[in-house]
Amino acid sequence: MKEKKTVLNEKSRFYRMITEICAEEGISLESAAYGWAFRMRKGERSGFLYGYRFGLNSAAAADICNSKSTASELLLGSGIPAVPHFGFLPPATARFAGQDGSLTELEELRRRYGILILKNDTGTGGTEVFPVVTEEELSQAAEKLFSAGKTIAASPYVSIAREIRVVILDGEAKLMFSKQRESVTGDGHSTLEELIFEQVVKNQTDPKTEKEKYADTKEKKLPAGPFTDAEFHEWELTEVPPEGTVVYLNWKHNLGQGAVPEVLEREKDPGEWDALEALAVRAAKALGIRFASVDVIEEEAAGDKKVLEVNCGVMLEHFSGCSGEYYQRAKEIYREAVKKSLENSFVISEG
Ligand SMILES: Nc1ncnc2c1ncn2[C@@H]1O[C@H](COP(=O)(O)OP(=O)(O)O)[C@@H](O)[C@H]1O
Ligand SMILES: [Mg+2]
Repeated sequence: MKEKKTVLNEKSRFYRMITEICAEEGISLESAAYGWAFRMRKGERSGFLYGYRFGLNSAAAADICNSKSTASELLLGSGIPAVPHFGFLPPATARFAGQDGSLTELEELRRRYGILILKNDTGTGGTEVFPVVTEEELSQAAEKLFSAGKTIAASPYVSIAREIRVVILDGEAKLMFSKQRESVTGDGHSTLEELIFEQVVKNQTDPKTEKEKYADTKEKKLPAGPFTDAEFHEWELTEVPPEGTVVYLNWKHNLGQGAVPEVLEREKDPGEWDALEALAVRAAKALGIRFASVDVIEEEAAGDKKVLEVNCGVMLEHFSGCSGEYYQRAKEIYREAVKKSLENSFVISEG
């Protein structure tokens, strides 16, 4: 008897949405790889989903998007405003890029830009993204990434006012939301530690006591230097932020790291919506992709909009968990993508 694999991904909202859509559309569905892969069949058509990828983009285009440095190089080459990412292969394979695997060129970039962000070139979720200011920080971060066999994407630090996710399907924006980082606002008399406890930690729904939560506050990730990712220093926690001052608890905008989506509606600001859509569509066209989420940042200084990254896998897991309405919005986008990828798919001949 064939052994049935545990479906680890079964609990994800993505799995639920795909299952619901296929049942509603009369599409038969078979899952594999612990629920991370699907084969869909309707009539003589058959199509696949893998991770959050649909069969709407070519494999080459999807791999190009997956590499932050390759995508940014191609975007900038097409004259599209994008945050530059320079690729550095780990020592074992550096020769394929004409590099020597040393940190010399990275160090030059650090000196040129002052602050660099080093990332896993193909990372997601903001988990392998390190700010480096000093030479020592650079070698530590590079060592961490290289020793794990990762290619490094090095990017000059940009002061980001807002990061917006634009979901594009066939040249049209289907959804936009900004990612609001977790923050506290000074009241002029509470210390940062007290504000974090009152506004964030106390309201967290976990079974810990208030005392335990208070102890945890000291561990809370708070600002250090230009970044708010490192733990707060003791002296920062005991400072009293002036009334009305917003202190962000993380410098990264990932929803998986506490940021909250705020949906942008076209009616509210058509000018802004159209500008974001135009940029995201240009990026998608330049990379030859039909379905993607394009992350756009707005720079603090001049308010310039630039593409930060393009994801060919459209992940709306955190977004769809925020409310029933957001779940429906995500599901309708996936429904359209499922239908289109089946239309696009090959015809199976049984036998
Ligand atoms: N060059 C940069 N300057 C400033 N912040 C950055 C830069 N690159 C990334 N970040 C911050 O780090 C977060 C994660 O980086 P990103 O490139 O999107 O990687 P991931 O694919 O892991 O989400 C972004 O949402 C942004 O807040
Ligand atoms: Mg990101």
